Amino acid sequence: MSRVELFEVGPRDGLQNEVRLIPTSEKIALIDLLSQAGFRRIEVASFVSPKWVPQMADGADVLAGITRAPGVSYAALTPNIRGFEAAKAARVDEIAVFASASEGFSRANVNASIEDSLARFVPIMEAAEMPVRGYVSCVVECPYDGPTPPAKVADVASKLFEMGCYEVSLGDTVGRATPEGTEAMLKAVTRACDPSKLAGHFHDTSGRALANIDVALDHGLRVFDTAVGGLGGCPYAPGAAGNVATERVMDHMKNKGLETGLDAGIIAEAATMARAMRKESDDV
Ligand code: HMG
Ligand code: MG
Repeated sequence: MSRVELFEVGPRDGLQNEVRLIPTSEKIALIDLLSQAGFRRIEVASFVSPKWVPQMADGADVLAGITRAPGVSYAALTPNIRGFEAAKAARVDEIAVFASASEGFSRANVNASIEDSLARFVPIMEAAEMPVRGYVSCVVECPYDGPTPPAKVADVASKLFEMGCYEVSLGDTVGRATPEGTEAMLKAVTRACDPSKLAGHFHDTSGRALANIDVALDHGLRVFDTAVGGLGGCPYAPGAAGNVATERVMDHMKNKGLETGLDAGIIAEAATMARAMRKESDDV
């Protein structure tokens, strides 16, 4: 059976937008459960300004508290060299730098133009001894600038590869992409970049994430970012809902005859745990 990989981003992208400050122990419990599910990579923290994303302020404690499973790479986001130093001190296995294909979101999310945000990654790439993943946000739609030109996504993704990223994840940050928009974007990006080094990162605001994943599969992508329980959103992307749920993508892949290597029982348990974390947030 052909394989696809689901990259679990729930503990980071899933939780970063929750209103209630989730206790570190709850995050650790979720990550420890996910570590038993068969993922190769789990994004567990962000080393960003705690003023910008208070929910991620305990990244070092999360990484110190988890029980690391052999063969699992624990990842964290780093927007600048300061975040990189903190992630390195916390002994992350890999880091992710994140850029946008639209100027409006870049300014809202990291207070910098696209060009200036990429310039911040140069010292990170020079210092990093661990693998560095890249993100491009707003690959089809931007909440500030409207539709994103596909050529701009190809340009930013190419720059991230040129800098040394081993994989670039293409983010439909607000979850409003249509399969047609995704198709046009992927046509442009796969002309410039190797599809086997691209990942799809779909939020599911409009319920089209699975349809967009199918388009991405047709273009040769085999890695998809997902979050158990469908948690998520970005505080700087108004209207963004959760990441597409790991359990839904796992079932979808199974129905298509594609193997994810995940343990369905553990995923179901983790999804229940994640949803309970959100529910308590809703009660705040
Ligand atoms: P800034 O205000 O322009 O920068 O923020 P600054 O250098 O003036 O720093 C502001 C304060 O933050 C200062 O503290 C710094 O020391 C501190 P103060 O002097 O005011 O007390 N600071 C830091 N603290 C801890 N760790 C750091 C750090 N850097 C500065 N690394 C900055 C610029 C980039 C820092 C800010 O805009 C920021 O942190 N943004 C992050 C926003 C974010 O995390 N968004 C969510 C993740 S992206 C996402 O979800 C999309 C994705 O899922 C893909 C998709 O869906 O498309 C990846
Ligand atoms: Mg995201």
